[in-house]
Amino acid sequence: MQGVLFDLDGILTDTAKFHFAAWSRLAQEKLGVTLPAEFESRLKGVSRVDSLVRIMDYAQVTDQYTPEQIEQMANEKNGYYVQAIEKLTQADILPGIPALLAELAARKIPCVIASASKNAPLILKNLGLTSEFAAIVDPAKVAHGKPAPDIFSAAAQAIGASPAECVGVEDAVAGITAINAAGAVAVGVGDPQELAAAEIIVPTTADLTYAVLEQAYQARAK
Ligand code: BG6
Ligand code: MG
Repeated sequence: MQGVLFDLDGILTDTAKFHFAAWSRLAQEKLGVTLPAEFESRLKGVSRVDSLVRIMDYAQVTDQYTPEQIEQMANEKNGYYVQAIEKLTQADILPGIPALLAELAARKIPCVIASASKNAPLILKNLGLTSEFAAIVDPAKVAHGKPAPDIFSAAAQAIGASPAECVGVEDAVAGITAINAAGAVAVGVGDPQELAAAEIIVPTTADLTYAVLEQAYQARAK
């Protein structure tokens, strides 16, 4: 294993609740609808604009807004979201992550962020994790979001590795699909049924260790 390609939201820290709260506020204020609780997981791994498209679809208002108004609403949601993530600290890092990053650093295995979030640099800074990563792929610079392979291909490239030499870590179905499509080895965190396409699935981030990632990598090589 030559590198580890990390999703951020739901892997390094739990931001789904902040995304959901920000979208709920926007949906209520601008579209007059209350989002059902299942939207929290339905928006995992989905880009900002695609999330809004899904919400507008739910509110049945898809044809009523101009591209400018849609962009304005996406910006407004991001304002609410940034207010929440500004308060993140080291204490918000998910269990197991500091130990995993230390194990990978000790083995000189580079780590890269392959997140759909344009807020990844701010989140990493507030978690105090920026220096643990060799690179952060800018999602604005890849042609297609997850489930397309682009962001994981770019992440491997950022460390001079081929995707097949890397393990990707994800909590979203779209992310597992993207890792597989890139030709990297997928490790899923969450529900084994939902993430069945991953090489190995662990219940929580506390179960992520170097040994698990290497096991997935070796299993795929067979
Ligand atoms: C993903 C999240 O990581 O990033 C999605 O799982 C989110 O819920 C997407 O919509 C884009 O994030 P941002 O911070 O650029 O709006
Ligand atoms: Mg995620």
